[in-house]
Amino acid sequence: MMTEPMQRATPAASSGMFGARILELADRLATHSEMTGGLTCTYLSPAHRAVAKELQELMQKAGLDTTIDAVGNVIGRYRSVVPGAKALIVGSHYDTVVNAGRYDGRLGILSALVVAEHLQRAGQALPFHLDVIAFAEEEGVRFSAPYIGSSAVAGRLDQTLLQRCDAKGMSLADALQEVGTRLEDIAALARRSQDLIGYLEVHIEQGPVLLDRNLPAGVVTAIAGCARHQVTVHGRAGHAGTVPMALRQDAAAAAAEMVLALERRCNAEPGLVGTVGKLAVPGGAINVIPARCELTLDIRAGEDAVRAAAERDVLAEIARIAARRGVTADVVELSRTPAISCAPRLQALMAQALARAGVEPLHLPSGAGHDAVMFSGLTEIGMLFVRCGNGGISHDPRETVTADDADLGARVLLDIILSLP
Ligand code: GLV
Ligand code: MN
Ligand code: MN
Repeated sequence: MMTEPMQRATPAASSGMFGARILELADRLATHSEMTGGLTCTYLSPAHRAVAKELQELMQKAGLDTTIDAVGNVIGRYRSVVPGAKALIVGSHYDTVVNAGRYDGRLGILSALVVAEHLQRAGQALPFHLDVIAFAEEEGVRFSAPYIGSSAVAGRLDQTLLQRCDAKGMSLADALQEVGTRLEDIAALARRSQDLIGYLEVHIEQGPVLLDRNLPAGVVTAIAGCARHQVTVHGRAGHAGTVPMALRQDAAAAAAEMVLALERRCNAEPGLVGTVGKLAVPGGAINVIPARCELTLDIRAGEDAVRAAAERDVLAEIARIAARRGVTADVVELSRTPAISCAPRLQALMAQALARAGVEPLHLPSGAGHDAVMFSGLTEIGMLFVRCGNGGISHDPRETVTADDADLGARVLLDIILSLP
């Protein structure tokens, strides 16, 4: 039972206290990897589970009530003393792409963690629970299914994904059961709208806008929508030396035309981007005409109608290319997320917190997807971008952030948390 009014609204975090710790912890987490000489941490791999354990220990040391949930999310609650309090979720993901940078996702988790450590040290009471969540899966690398962690907490995990297999043929259901998950426990992870006051995420920008504007952080306005497909082109194998060019049904040559068709269509319109991130001739050999070629399509735009039109055009062009070349193209949709907007109220709070920190509050959209997307519609979402160095490169080991910028991001996050009603 609370008897005294809570003392709030003083960030009381001096400049520099968070940044060095965030970078040191990001380095420590990056020691768990599936590859030598770089960082790869995909869903439920031994490296991934080691990171989860380390994060849980850090949260425990920060005095949070911790759990690793049924899909591998690591959750630490800084508990409110107010009876019946709602929760503010602050999180991001700890899985990575292949050969990743060490801040994508983890910067947000560690920013939330150092803020929780600070609140604990300061004995700061909050009128809501602060749930620091390290989401287990956002990148979609292992099962071509992004947002497994955050969609489970948002009550949006597509159950049909449980049957989807990784590259080794293991289903998501089996992978979860292998690490001790009871599948029937997943549904209970879903949060209810009435129990939440909002969702906040700090994330490295992964682009050059803040760098070019010489600003350490900015307010995210919206997150682009994304549609992904797997295309398998079936042609006919043959001897590379004997089959005349005019008689070939070369799956790889057809796929090459498809890659360029996607590029051409997405080049034709501002705000639209398209990528073939995977392109393979399974079992290919130097002297065999490819019978099969596999490629992925990732199409994104800030406006759903723009993306949908591009998707239709690209898929129609793929069908035309296949027909003209005498091959077939099987297309399977892998995932689809709509474009979403960040809550104006949280954007305004972030802008005010940035201004208090002496930073001009620039508003910018996100072309990358984030766990925040899953919470849109369930609760208000807000995102703070932190400047990315090295020209803004991300999904690459050259991704960087400075201690000063990480520090600013965490201080602004703390200020926002303390200014929430
Ligand atoms: C996540 O990194 C994405 O692909 O947007
Ligand atoms: Mn990423
Ligand atoms: Mn990310």
